[in-house]
Amino acid sequence: MAEEQKDLEVLLGSEERFAPPEEFVKASEYSEAAIYDQAERDFEGWWESWAEKLDWFEKWETTLEWNPPWAKWFQEGKLNASHNCLDRHVEAGNGDRVAYHWIAEDGPTRDVTYADLLDMTKRFASALKGLGVEKGDVVGIYMPMIPETPAAILACARIGAVHNVVFGGFSPQSVKERMEVSDAKVLVTANANMRRGKPISMKTEVDKIAGELPELKHVVVVERREDVETPMQSGRDLWWHEICEQADGDCPAEPLDAEHPLFILYTSGSTAKPKGILHTTGGYLTGVSATHRMVFDLKPESDVFWCAADIGWVTGHSYIVYGPLANGATSVLYEGAPDYPDKDRWWEIVERYKVTTLYTAPTAIRACMKWGREHPEKHDLSSLRLLGSVGEPINPRAWVWYHKVIGGERCPIVDTWWQTETGHMMITPLPAITETKPGSATRPFPGVDAQVVDKHGEKVEEGGGFLTLRRPWPGMARTLFGEDERFVETYWSKYGPDIYDVGDASKVDSDGYFWIVGRTDDVINVSGHRMSTMEIESACVSHERVAETAVVGAADEDTGQAIVAFVTLDGTGEEPEGFTEELRAHVAEKIGKLARPKRIIYADDLPKTRSGKIMRRLLKDIAEGRELGDVTTLRDPSVTEKIKEKMAAESD
Ligand code: WT7
Repeated sequence: MAEEQKDLEVLLGSEERFAPPEEFVKASEYSEAAIYDQAERDFEGWWESWAEKLDWFEKWETTLEWNPPWAKWFQEGKLNASHNCLDRHVEAGNGDRVAYHWIAEDGPTRDVTYADLLDMTKRFASALKGLGVEKGDVVGIYMPMIPETPAAILACARIGAVHNVVFGGFSPQSVKERMEVSDAKVLVTANANMRRGKPISMKTEVDKIAGELPELKHVVVVERREDVETPMQSGRDLWWHEICEQADGDCPAEPLDAEHPLFILYTSGSTAKPKGILHTTGGYLTGVSATHRMVFDLKPESDVFWCAADIGWVTGHSYIVYGPLANGATSVLYEGAPDYPDKDRWWEIVERYKVTTLYTAPTAIRACMKWGREHPEKHDLSSLRLLGSVGEPINPRAWVWYHKVIGGERCPIVDTWWQTETGHMMITPLPAITETKPGSATRPFPGVDAQVVDKHGEKVEEGGGFLTLRRPWPGMARTLFGEDERFVETYWSKYGPDIYDVGDASKVDSDGYFWIVGRTDDVINVSGHRMSTMEIESACVSHERVAETAVVGAADEDTGQAIVAFVTLDGTGEEPEGFTEELRAHVAEKIGKLARPKRIIYADDLPKTRSGKIMRRLLKDIAEGRELGDVTTLRDPSVTEKIKEKMAAESD
């Protein structure tokens, strides 16, 4: 059968299955399916067995205290995440092991060992203390993908400060909001961020907002590039290298309660206001180390692990920083774009560092597919033994391409489902146990209880419905920072106080395999990045010429979903010359470039119900070119007709 035809068969849902390769199973530490039953019989004991692999200053007394939805794991236990990620390995004689092979976008590389990273972390932790940062204080981190970023994160963890990382692609306005609500005292940044070989001055961006944050006492600046002019405000702004040089190199890791807050990470929800997901120390570290070890079949002495996400997202927190370092693994930390200077950059890195495990998002795989197999084929990818996917549903076609072209048909693929809120992977294959089906995240991780339910909360044995989680797990979000009530309302109310409402639609098949469909709320998933339609709408309407907006996510073959904005303007509905670019730039300034609508459609009016509610669902149907269903509730059905015509005319 022709190859393309075979791919198509898979795409059309022929039930092709992939058993774990024999060689892989033989070499794996986790190949016994009995693990699942063991964890099922005693899930607390199961997680406890993973917590025991960490270093505790004092052991816990209670494994789990569960007052739904409030969970406390490993009470009375004391530990420190930075000690577990660094000191422990150096003390065990592994100080010379590489923690990160860092590859700059513009050329330089640097191998950072565990001993190096410990030294950087201790110095910066002392420096933070010197700036008056105390246990429980919030420190903002807005940085590129450089070794100082994990060091800054671990320095916070070392002294019990709570880090609040903002993805480097977000706008200064977003940074401001996130610093404001968390009362950050210090913000760590760099003087430059590389964009396709060119340095962008990050510090100048930060300067736009730093003065407007009364709680912010200091901005610490890493000198990423010497050639970028960097204005420094005396008293407030400090160079990283200067304060670290002066700092005491000996800064012991503070013993912290297992439930001590480790970090806040803002993510988009269904309102315009981002949610500050709060994670704590002991449970989170247990969950990320267990999943990183098992799902990636990690062999810390020999693997070279590469999670090609950004540290600014939860994937980076859990599988670039905490999971790999807790397990003493060697990772690749790559600063730049996958196609800079050329489209084979990733594969050149895989070859050069003999990467064994690659973890990325379906969007990246689809982009590589589009660029063509000649790019990976230029390189020797035989070091790869396992591939991972995360962030959005992977279409079977991309799965099969990943398997064949990148994995040489010998690497199992783990399609891992989880969220910022869950902290670590929840539904995923175990590569030496689970038979995989392209497009399915397969089964819950041992100890995890996931269920698809109908709208009444009744279990769906086979078919579609809403995804729920029924049992606490160690890395679960403890609350929304400063918003306990919103936490309960958003996640723990729909089906009962002890059932976590995920917000995803999913199917479950006759083998009990999960097929995640996508969000059920007003959240768009663009390239595996979560965006709130409300947040984008409010950014649009903050432009003086915009009267009304409705934003929807439309299926997109490259990015999974794409942002489409329907806009009515003040005055005439005609688009003024160049306005689309102006509005896109406005959204970039408010939120970040990644929130810019791909398409903007101007209309005289938006479809509304008789009570005046905008019918976003109809607009989504229009944007995806579907037949419109019932339009009888519309106040003025001609409005949708006009929009449809306009879209069709533009597409021609
Ligand atoms: C949402 C969470 C998980 C870290 C990166 C995103 C979607 C995530 C998968 C997957 C299908 C997935 C879900 C989820 N999602 N992984 N393997 N298959 N969908 O974290 O920004 O918190 O987004 O991403 O819709 O709810 P996040």
